[in-house]
Amino acid sequence: MNPLLEIDSLTVQFGGVPAVADLTLRIAAGETVALVGGSGAGKSTVALAVAGLVTPASGAIRFEGEELGAVGRRRRRELRRGMHLVFQDSYAALPPNMRVADIAAEPMVIHREGDAVSRRAAAVAALESVRLTPTATYLDRFAHELSGGQRQRVAFARALVARPRLLLADEPASGLDASLRLEIVDLMTELANTQDLAVVHITHDLALAARSCSTIVVMQDGRVVESGPTADVLSAPAHAYTAALVAAASG
Ligand SMILES: Nc1ncnc2c1ncn2[C@@H]1O[C@H](COP(=O)(O)OP(=O)(O)OP(=O)(O)O)[C@@H](O)[C@H]1O
Ligand SMILES: [Mg+2]
Repeated sequence: MNPLLEIDSLTVQFGGVPAVADLTLRIAAGETVALVGGSGAGKSTVALAVAGLVTPASGAIRFEGEELGAVGRRRRRELRRGMHLVFQDSYAALPPNMRVADIAAEPMVIHREGDAVSRRAAAVAALESVRLTPTATYLDRFAHELSGGQRQRVAFARALVARPRLLLADEPASGLDASLRLEIVDLMTELANTQDLAVVHITHDLALAARSCSTIVVMQDGRVVESGPTADVLSAPAHAYTAALVAAASG
C-alpha cells in the first residue's frame, strides 16, 4: 500500500495542553476513513493540522510522500492543493456575496488555475457531479438562497473543483435532517469510489461511519485507541472505549 497521507507522532497543543498526542495514522489513496470519538477527542484538530490551519508542536505529516513541514512554502502550497476541507457549517464557510458558479470555481482562482471559461466549465462539472441539478438553475444564485442540503452540495463541489486526492470532511452532514444526512454521506462515498478520492469523514455517528467508510479510527484524548476495518471494529471492539461508544450508539 502506497500511503497518500502519513501522519507520524503528531502532537498539537493549545496553550501547552495537548489536543492531539503522538498520533500516527496512514491513509491510502482512495481509502475511506471514519474518524470517530467523543467531543474534545482531537478529531478536528487532526484535520486542521493536516490542512495547515494549526501548527503542530511535533511530528511529521507526509502527503504524497513529501513532508509538509520540510518542503518550501511554495511546494507546501502546491501539495495542499491536493487536499480540501469541508466543514459542518457550509453556510458560514461559503462566501455570502458570491454566486454559486463563482463559489464553486473559487479554489481555481485562489490556485491561479485556468481562465474564466475553463473555471466556469469546471464549476459546472463539479456541480453536476454533486448532483445539484438542473445545474443551470443554480449557477447565479447566492448561498443564502439555498437549503442546507443544497449548500452542502455546493461546499462539496467547491471541494472537488481543484481535483483533490484527499477530502477532509468534518461532520459534513450533522446540521442536516436524517434523510439529507444519508444523501450527503452517500454522495461522499460515491465521490471516493468514482474519483479516486481518499476521504477522512469525521463523525459522531457510528452508523454513518459504518455506512460511509471501510476503515475506522477511534480517538480518545488526542490518541488513537483502535483502528481497523469498520465492520470488524464495530462488531468486535478490542478497546473498552470503542465498546462504550458502540453501546452508547445502540442503546
Ligand atoms: N483553538 C483552540 N484553542 C484552544 N483549545 C482548543 C482549540 N481547538 C481545540 N481545542 C481543544 O483541543 C481539544 C480537542 O479539540 P477538537 O476540536 O479537536 O476535538 P473534536 O474531537 O473535534 O471534538 P468535537 O467532536 O466536539 O468536535 C479539546 O480539548 C479542545 O477544547
Ligand atoms: Mg470537532
